[in-house]
Formats: sequence, C-alpha cells, structure tokens
Amino acid sequence: MSGLQTDGRVEQGRLLTVENLSTTFATERGPVRAVDQVSLSLDRGQALGIVGESGSGKTVLSRSIMGLLPSTARREGSIRFGDHELLGSGAVDMSKLWGREMSMVFQNPMVSLNPVMRIGEQIAEPLRIHLGMSRRDARATTVRLLRDVRIPEPERRVDQYPHELSGGMRQRVMIAITLACGPTLLFADEPTTALDVTVQAQILDLIAEQREERNMSVVLVTHDLGVVAGHTDVIAVMYGGRLVEVAPTAVLFADMRMPYTEALLQSIPRLDQPSHTRLTAIPGRPPDLLDPPRGCAFAPRCAFARDRCREEAPTLTPADNPEHRFACWYPVGSAEYLETRERIASGLTIGGRS
Ligand SMILES: Nc1ncnc2c1ncn2[C@@H]1O[C@H](COP(=O)(O)OP(=O)(O)O)[C@@H](O)[C@H]1O
Ligand code: SF4
Ligand SMILES: [Mg+2]
Repeated sequence: MSGLQTDGRVEQGRLLTVENLSTTFATERGPVRAVDQVSLSLDRGQALGIVGESGSGKTVLSRSIMGLLPSTARREGSIRFGDHELLGSGAVDMSKLWGREMSMVFQNPMVSLNPVMRIGEQIAEPLRIHLGMSRRDARATTVRLLRDVRIPEPERRVDQYPHELSGGMRQRVMIAITLACGPTLLFADEPTTALDVTVQAQILDLIAEQREERNMSVVLVTHDLGVVAGHTDVIAVMYGGRLVEVAPTAVLFADMRMPYTEALLQSIPRLDQPSHTRLTAIPGRPPDLLDPPRGCAFAPRCAFARDRCREEAPTLTPADNPEHRFACWYPVGSAEYLETRERIASGLTIGGRS
C-alpha cells in the first residue's frame, strides 16, 4: 500500500516493491543470470544499503530497477514504484520517471560529467527539460543546488568546467544534478569508491543530509559493509546475484547469520590503510554465473559448508526478528557453526577446504 499522494507521488509509506526480480543477459557463452529472484521493498525516506563483493550483481540490480540496461538483458518479476508497475505489459514509460522520480549517482563523476560543458549548464539542463523552467529560474535554482551540496562560492563555480574542480567537488556536482528535479528515490552506486577516506565521509554525510531534508529514499550500493553502517536503515547483502541476508542495519551488525556477511565484515580494511590498498580478504572467487553451483553459491568458499550446502541452495527465511531474513543452512550461532568454529580453533581442520 502506498501512502498519501499528491501529484501522483508517494509522500509516505511504501515507495518501491521488488518481487522475484531476475535479470538475465544473453551472451555468446550462454545466459548469465546476474540478478536472481530478488525481492525487497523500500519506504519513502528510508535508506537501503546493497552490499556485496564486486560482481555480485549490485549494479545490475539497481539498473534493473531504473530500467537502464543494455538490450541483451531480460527482466522478469515485478517492480512497483508507488502505484506504477515498471515491468511487463502495461509498464509505465520509464523516461517519465527518470530525474523526477528516480535518479542515480554513478561511481565516476569524470565519466558522467560532460567535460566541455560548464557545470551550471549541466545542472540547469534537466531543470529546463523536465520541469520546464526558464533559463533565469534554472540558473537561480542551480546556484541554490550547488549551495545545498556545500560547494563554496556557488555563484562563481556555476560557470566552471568539471576539470577545474577536485574529485570530491565533482561528485558533489553529480549529486546536485541528481537532486535537481527533486527525485523521491536516489540510487548512489559506489558514490565514494574513487575518493579518499575523508571526502568519502563528507559525501555520505551529504547524501544523508539531503535525504533527511527532502524525505528522499536512498539506495546506497557498495562493496564495503563499513560504508553503509552509519548511513542506512536496512542492509541487503548480495552474493552471486541473490540476496543472502536482509535486516535492519542495527540488527544485521548485532546478529548477522550468514557466514558470507560475517566474512564481508571481517574484510573491512583498517582505517589507517590507504583506500587503494583495500583487498578483499575472503579467499576464493565468486561463483561463475554461466555455470552457477547447484547448492549454496558460497559453499566453495565457506568454512562452515557441509554436504547439504553443496546439494541444496538455501532460500531466504526469517530469523527471530521477522524483518531479518537470511539464506544459510548452518548460520552463525547454530550448533553446527559452533562445532566447526571449535574444530578450526583446535587446528583439526583448515576451514571447510580441508
Ligand atoms: N552487459 C552485461 N552482459 C553480460 N553480463 C553482465 C553484463 N553486465 C553485468 N554482467 C554480469 O553481471 C555480474 C554482476 O555485475 P554487477 O552488477 O556490475 O556487479 P557489482 O555491481 O556487484 O560489482 C557480472 O559479474 C557479470 O557476470
Ligand atoms: S554454511 Fe552452507 S548454506 Fe551457509 S553460507 Fe556456508 S555453504 Fe552456504
Ligand atoms: Mg557495481
């Protein structure tokens, strides 16, 4: 159920409902199912973190919702945005939603910004196209947006080109562009990966601040569980195209059940390491999506895997807290998990790979 609406917009309550969404690419080597049976929902004003290693399907999931996929991709399932169904027959024309309802901050602002266009014009363009503003109003709004995203001296900056700004400032410009038409849902796909740690924190704070001010919903996509910790209400962990654990952020950190989530948490680098030396500490490789394993996709890398894990894929099931779901046969804290832990500690076996 969506909440109060004005101008067809969801002002409170459920904004996005994704049900059994799968996205498959046709490739020369066969079909690649990059998103597999994903279900999730998001309320107006809520922030959702999508977390997982590189290649787990985070970007494809976000782009599947936005309808920004190459023609080789096929989507199945249901995506409801407010009262609009975005998939199948009768689906709404997505171009009507881009900018005004949904927009996306990409990882690399240098690629997304036009290098030969003044930043002010790049922000004003959607205002004039989507909102029909006059040149003069669009410029005034642009200056206000630059101020909103904490760019100093916006009256001067508005006439500069992207290369005249630092990486952090360019990402602020990108955020200003995505905020320009007042979207209800903002996707931020690894928005800080290219930035140093201090600037990262500023950008995440900026997104959080704008979310609060505009009662926006945010989907924050990252490979770093540390990034979403303080900036989301709910976290969805992805592995091999599937959701493997979903929980309110505080619940996830207090009581994570999926060994993959635990491994991701253990792979968070120390703050005193420069970000370019970040290494994912989980041994082994993500599953081959052309030939996915029959059982749990994490089994070849999981220290807690047993025969059942290799035979049968676990599905998402609710934990004690019904808002917390995880997909694992021998979750963190179970008797089998504890037994394996003890064996590892006593040196009898090297994880599940002995
Ligand atoms: N255009 C494409 N054609 C074929 N496969 C793709 C395409 N884009 C993505 N994939 C597949 O989807 C997987 C997930 O990609 P992606 O969503 O970009 O991962 P993430 O954002 O989590 O790093 C990739 O490992 C790749 O196998
Ligand atoms: S214990 Fe089994 S089901 Fe759970 S994550 Fe490990 S391999 Fe997968
Ligand atoms: Mg990605």
